[in-house]
Amino acid sequence: MKALFICDNKEEWGLLRNLFHAHFSKVELICAIKASDALNYLSFEGPFSIIIIDCSIKRDDPSELAKEIFENTGERATIFIGTEAMLNDRVDQDFYMNHEMVFLYKKPFDPATFKSTVQESIDWAKREDFENSIVEINKEEYLPLKLKNFYLFDILPYDVYIELTKTKFVKVISANKKYTQSTIQDFQRRNVKFLYLHKNEHLKFLENSIEKITQTLKQKANKPKMILQAQIAGVLVIHQYLRDIGPAESIIRFSEIIIDSVPRNFKNFGELKSVLGHFPFENADLAEQAVLKAYICEALSIGLDWRSDLSRKKLGLSSIIHDCYLDNDEMAKVTHVDSPEFEMLNKDEQELLLEHPFKAAELARHFNGFTDVEFIIQEHQELPDGSGYPRGLIASKITSISAVFIIANNFVTQIAINGLSKVSIHNTVSGFISYYNLGNFKEPSQILKRMIKG
Ligand SMILES: [Fe+2]
Repeated sequence: MKALFICDNKEEWGLLRNLFHAHFSKVELICAIKASDALNYLSFEGPFSIIIIDCSIKRDDPSELAKEIFENTGERATIFIGTEAMLNDRVDQDFYMNHEMVFLYKKPFDPATFKSTVQESIDWAKREDFENSIVEINKEEYLPLKLKNFYLFDILPYDVYIELTKTKFVKVISANKKYTQSTIQDFQRRNVKFLYLHKNEHLKFLENSIEKITQTLKQKANKPKMILQAQIAGVLVIHQYLRDIGPAESIIRFSEIIIDSVPRNFKNFGELKSVLGHFPFENADLAEQAVLKAYICEALSIGLDWRSDLSRKKLGLSSIIHDCYLDNDEMAKVTHVDSPEFEMLNKDEQELLLEHPFKAAELARHFNGFTDVEFIIQEHQELPDGSGYPRGLIASKITSISAVFIIANNFVTQIAINGLSKVSIHNTVSGFISYYNLGNFKEPSQILKRMIKG
């Protein structure tokens, strides 16, 4: 068990260390001089079961610090130490009264009473099971889920873990206990990419996510920015489901819901410029890229006056699944297999990149009623001058629907590389005009330029 002492007087550090050494030798005490150090310790050296805050710290407010800690890590047994005047002045009485795990210790130090206060906080922490949060588990029985998935909820009916070593995991979210968005942001800052769930619960999590996103799409239909967020979360779940479980009926149905929601929401925005102006391209990950491609395809279909729902649906499905087997977001930025970027990938990644159009095309066959999507997906990395892959097709061999998807794919790839800004959008379409001035590429590339440059 670990305790964190926040105090700017190093003499007190020694005093507390001696007290812990004498009475609580199993508790490791770590001392921090200021709030920012304490928050770093909590992020990188945790979990801490007990927090002790000296109320005489000068540059931080003790109550605000405790509140921030609770927000970041959940409620922890917390002891405020200070003279009677300090405790009255610097401890928020409502905060103290409303949290059973917050204790006060009145100075001067008296070993016997201090010991009993610490013991009380240890008992609370033990009851809360924090000391058991590091567990040895059989990794085979747990499956990773991308961190971003967890923004969808604030409470879950199962325990969630992060990986410390190959066999050791820390429980970071307890079943049926509320967690905050900042808990997830904190993992993101620490570069945690995945959280782990037991296999039996993994599927339930994905199904709950499907339900939640489906409801949002229905209920927030007139809130276009929220719909974009829900579509991105939806594609994240679809990728995860297809990779972990496969093309089951429920995920095929859910994909259709996402596909159908794109033209409806495009109408809310009215024009492509407005979509681009509001698009939450925060991580440039595969899910964000997929949804943006679906909107570019929708805009081009309108510009080409393609009234058939079917061709728009084909482009929607292609957008959602074409890169779903890529292992990481960086791989999607490689446009040529004779480029330095391709050379930077390891052997497995190179192999996967070459295969991914075929693998995703194979998957498309499971989606009934979407004929020809396999060809669009197989050809999505081809380029008009024959420099694309896997087959190096030239423009005259590429159908108009494939050409639209290739343009959408490469437009978003450039945005993923250069960022979503007016300058990068303008530069990208300017470059496209001469490069795509061939065969079936000519018309959609001119439409894209008109839509963006007006
Ligand atoms: Fe791709």
